[in-house]
Amino acid sequence: MIPVSRPVFGPEEEAAVLEVMRSGQFAQAERVRAFERAFAEVTGARFAVATSSGTTALFLALLAHGVGPGDEVITSPLTFIATANAIAQAGARPVFADVDDSLNLCPASVAELIGPRTRAIVPVHLHGNPCDLHALSALARDHGLALVQDACQAVGATVDGVALGCFGTAVYSFYATKNLTTGEGGMVTTGDPEVAAACASLRHQAYAGQPYVHDRIGFNFRMTELQAAIGLAQLGRLEAITERRRRIASYYDEMIPGDRFIRPRRLAGAGHVYHQYTLRLAGADGDARRARDRLRELLAEAGVGSGVYYPVPVHRQPAYAEYAKVRCPEAERAADDMLSIPVHHALTDDEVETVAQAVRSA
Ligand SMILES: Cc1ncc(COP(=O)(O)O)c(C=O)c1O
Repeated sequence: MIPVSRPVFGPEEEAAVLEVMRSGQFAQAERVRAFERAFAEVTGARFAVATSSGTTALFLALLAHGVGPGDEVITSPLTFIATANAIAQAGARPVFADVDDSLNLCPASVAELIGPRTRAIVPVHLHGNPCDLHALSALARDHGLALVQDACQAVGATVDGVALGCFGTAVYSFYATKNLTTGEGGMVTTGDPEVAAACASLRHQAYAGQPYVHDRIGFNFRMTELQAAIGLAQLGRLEAITERRRRIASYYDEMIPGDRFIRPRRLAGAGHVYHQYTLRLAGADGDARRARDRLRELLAEAGVGSGVYYPVPVHRQPAYAEYAKVRCPEAERAADDMLSIPVHHALTDDEVETVAQAVRSA
């Protein structure tokens, strides 16, 4: 089976891990700081703060922007549940705006939901496809809201050639399936020194510079030196990783017929990094989910793995049962008719051809 994702490690990672093991320094130290510096440079941000996961990065970023009980945070329902969970864990109420045909937050739906309690907007760059940051930044600016990007799937993505890290605060995940992975891990990037300082302190039990003295209740969301060493090695290959994914995506663009399979819209100037390559079934209204699931079975029979990210929008999750009356028709439709096919950078040319042929025949 050609898997839909596969972590790839080379001799650089092996050497880096051995070096950490022999150094005797495991917990957050110089390598984590080096990873933060290098990551900030690559993502165009002034500051980067490493954490234990994308979820903890988002949680800390929200706290650092002052999000808390009584606040509302507008986000996408078409995301991994962690996006909404981090908002809820910060004490705020997630408010779900619908997506558009890019599968990212629709700025007009966001605008309709901004109210007196709204404190922040959390757009998600789903599958590595950058959302409309110009429109969302303008909305945030005009209403005095924080913009905290969930860029967990979008390391290396750009808008008009500008890295996401240049647009305020963003959070990244280095989970095992991500384009850049440390097994588990996350990063907050920001241009705001106070946000960076708050995240750095809160991840380390609200350390305030004086050993074992803490002026508020913090957390242990630190990254280890092992993760940072792997991250640094992967970061050196990020451009090549992104380039390979883009090449595979443009092959699929060409080989998989557009009249049968709709692609999520890419905005002009969006530098997509293809964490996933996603197809939507054209004209499968009514029974889209069954047709999509049948297609996945046929692909599996041809030895091609696939995934659905995500089959249940967050406002339809049992954990968010109080949102049962909320309607986000575009997100609900996409959950029924989309699927993602292998696009990871470890695919061989033969595997890429097999995937494209399997989709065409299925
Ligand atoms: C869109 C999105 N948000 C948040 C997360 C949470 O990241 P993590 O699993 O590293 O906590 C992920 C990744 O899993 C994600 O894909």
